[in-house]
Amino acid sequence: MRLLIALLAAAAVSAASSHKEGALRFLARPEGEDAYNRQLLELAAIPSVSALPENHGDLLAAAGWLQRRLEAAGLENVRILPTEGPRPVVYADYLHAPPGAPTALIYAHFDVQPAADTAPLWASPPFQPEVRSGRFWGRGVSDDKGSGVLPPIQALEAILKGGGGGGGSGGPPALPINVKLMLEGEEEVGSPHLEPFLAKYKDLLAADFVLSADGGQIAEDQPGLTLGLRGALALEVELITAQTDVHSGMAGGAIQNPARALAQLLSTMWHPGNSSVAIPGFYDRVRPITDADRDDIIAYNFDEEQQLLGPLGASEAFGEEGYTSLERLWHRPTLEVVGMGSGFQGEGVKTIVPHRAFAKLAARLVPDQTPNEIEALIEAHVAAHLPRACNASIKLLGFKAHPYSQPKDTMPNRAAAKVLTELMGNPPKYTRSGATIPALAAFQQHLAASTTVFAFGLPDSNLHAPNENFPLSMYRLARRAWVELLFELGQQAASGGQGGGDRSEL
Ligand SMILES: *[C@@H]1O[C@H](CO)[C@@H](O)[C@H](O)[C@H]1NC(C)=O
Ligand SMILES: *[C@@H]1O[C@H](CO)[C@@H](O)[C@H](O)[C@H]1NC(C)=O
Repeated sequence: MRLLIALLAAAAVSAASSHKEGALRFLARPEGEDAYNRQLLELAAIPSVSALPENHGDLLAAAGWLQRRLEAAGLENVRILPTEGPRPVVYADYLHAPPGAPTALIYAHFDVQPAADTAPLWASPPFQPEVRSGRFWGRGVSDDKGSGVLPPIQALEAILKGGGGGGGSGGPPALPINVKLMLEGEEEVGSPHLEPFLAKYKDLLAADFVLSADGGQIAEDQPGLTLGLRGALALEVELITAQTDVHSGMAGGAIQNPARALAQLLSTMWHPGNSSVAIPGFYDRVRPITDADRDDIIAYNFDEEQQLLGPLGASEAFGEEGYTSLERLWHRPTLEVVGMGSGFQGEGVKTIVPHRAFAKLAARLVPDQTPNEIEALIEAHVAAHLPRACNASIKLLGFKAHPYSQPKDTMPNRAAAKVLTELMGNPPKYTRSGATIPALAAFQQHLAASTTVFAFGLPDSNLHAPNENFPLSMYRLARRAWVELLFELGQQAASGGQGGGDRSEL
């Protein structure tokens, strides 16, 4: 019996390798390269800007374009699903893997950042994408249409059309795992409707793990795998002392000044000696930095001057005492004033005592902090330290996300590391980001699935900026990498006997 199973497994592995060869041949067809390039030029020509209502029709046009592309690629159940907001999600799947095979949810987004406001700074018009000196140029050619959305679709098409097997041949289906795709249309505005969408469609989207095609690599020859991102919370504190601004001579010195009161209040939020946050309980749930975390930091080989201070023209690193810059960015939470105002802002002087002052605060959170708990701690702190003769109000600013973290050694991370090492020539570095992708924590919460970031953006691609670009070489590598990854996932799941995915590790 054991021998029979071993023989069957060996047969499956050799069938999978011939399916993979077929898929790679499909990608390498002489007419393929042109067709793939045309696809990106077409999709990036649609100005699917999520921030601007005037581009709403374009967003729908991009969703329609993708629907047709997914159908042509051989994906099934292709649907444009509504969210509670104006921007839909495009869904597709292919669920014919052998019994016990895991299901992957591939995530990417087809909306882009605005570009018309910076059009004069572009060497070619942002929504007339073109190829120059080995790169695509245009808004979205990298983030996320070229580095994220199209390569996995092209890889799936190559497997379904070139991989053989399944259907009439009677052999096992070429695609060794089940795949669902979820293409979002509002990532660039902070995914405000993602959580209710995931809650509503959690059965449709159920998966053993998520593969995010949004994100990037460290360099063309240096892969990275993201193990964590910080969460976020933003709120505004407003102090009001009177019904209107008053004459600073007639009333100054006799009533409270909200700008001064705000400065006093804010000064209680950090320890002056060491820049740590002084809000009681703020650090209670923060996990200690482990030796393994420090090993990843050492391996990353961060050059503070080159990568942090130099580009900013900043004179020295600054932050919570006792931690290095990368520890601060990857593993420690922050509370920052991101905006403040009070009184007369024009040139010259206006002799008033203002009646209102505000500060916008943004926290970046790490495991196991939660935005709701931190919000309550800040509110309690403001109430406890409110200067006399002021009324305070606090409102949330719509930027609220849980932190995200996952272990290094999950099955999909192992598969991704193997593929990236083979294709890019170096093993991946394991990184974290001080920034926030709300989707990853949301997948963990609503689908109980952790996310492997498998995406090909590059640091010098001018994301969100004028002259966004993406190398043709990276576009080519990305679709090849997706073919390799999908087969590697199938193989690891089969050999590990963990068809249902490594749930225990998530
Ligand atoms: C401050 O709050 C008190 C109590 O609610 C209220 O009576 C007063 O009018 C408020 N003052 C201002 C300037 O809003
Ligand atoms: C910073 O200083 C405060 C007050 O002395 C102390 O309670 C806190 O533990 C210090 N934090 C760090 C990170 O040194």
